[in-house]
Amino acid sequence: MTQHRIAVIGGDGIGPEVTSEALKVIAAAGVDLATTDFDLGASRYQRTGEVLSDETLEELRGFDAILLGAVGPAIGDTSIPPGTLERGLLLKARFGLDLFINLRPFVGVPGSIAEGADFVVIRENTEGTYAGEGGFLRHGTPHEIATQGSVNTRFGVERCVRFAFNLADSREAKKLTLVHKTNVLTFSGDLWQRTVNDVATEFPSVSVDYNHIDAACIYMVEQPSRYDVIVTDNLFGDILTDLAGAVAGGIGFAASANLNASRTGPSLFEPVHGAAHDIAGQAKANPLAAISSGALMLEFLGETEAAGRISAAVTEYAMSTTEQASTGEIGDAIAGRV
Ligand code: IPM
Ligand code: MN
Repeated sequence: MTQHRIAVIGGDGIGPEVTSEALKVIAAAGVDLATTDFDLGASRYQRTGEVLSDETLEELRGFDAILLGAVGPAIGDTSIPPGTLERGLLLKARFGLDLFINLRPFVGVPGSIAEGADFVVIRENTEGTYAGEGGFLRHGTPHEIATQGSVNTRFGVERCVRFAFNLADSREAKKLTLVHKTNVLTFSGDLWQRTVNDVATEFPSVSVDYNHIDAACIYMVEQPSRYDVIVTDNLFGDILTDLAGAVAGGIGFAASANLNASRTGPSLFEPVHGAAHDIAGQAKANPLAAISSGALMLEFLGETEAAGRISAAVTEYAMSTTEQASTGEIGDAIAGRV
């Protein structure tokens, strides 16, 4: 049996609690992990002033995968300037490790708006408005100017679109929807649309659709089952996946994989939700998103069978359980089923 070397970043708030449930379930599924804990996040920054050093990033590069809980200060905590952890840690890892695919699967739980829906959002993860292009002119003066550009390279868009097509081709519905705003963002939108048109010729069995992002928000609420694989840019994907999480049963279920799909280094797996300091330490956090992120990690590491057992257990649990259970009880319940 292969042993996988995993860097674990529990992070802040509920991050460590949900991550330990994910590790509990993976162990119960019989997969051998050698884990190394990394103390990173808001509390580390507050203690040491360090977010993610280049040395630590290099260290992370040496692992097979990274499992992350959540990072971020409590809402209202003004001691950390906005963006410090987001840009300095999460985005530094996404860019530095070339995690160019952000894969977020959604299955509507019973009673949710998206009940019966089963779709995946493929979000480009290293470009767009997240690239950090822009700056200030005459900062702090009445005449100040702030620009924030969107970077879209043919290379970056094409590798994302091709990944999405391959995924759509492997699924039953074989449907890909590009979500953008081509009617207004006529430069980047045109690049995305042409790339989709070009790559589509390689996938004759995949049907292709297009929605503007605003319309996609309506469809996501009114008819989410129309979607199979959505491909979109970084910022649209960020927003749309929060909405998707909300309609599919709550953000407590939403898992994500930040993939270096060309496998030149480790990929990073994390719940879509944040650190939720308000419920930290009270065993109230739903660990299902973290557990599902663990399953995505195992799948990417080739532990397909164990990943399938965990996903099935999570689905079964989510579909059948309505009572409120503690974080540990939910972890135990899933561990007992794998
Ligand atoms: C997410 C988060 C991040 C993002 C933040 C924390 C930088 O919202 O993973 O969706 O905007 O990508
Ligand atoms: Mn987000």
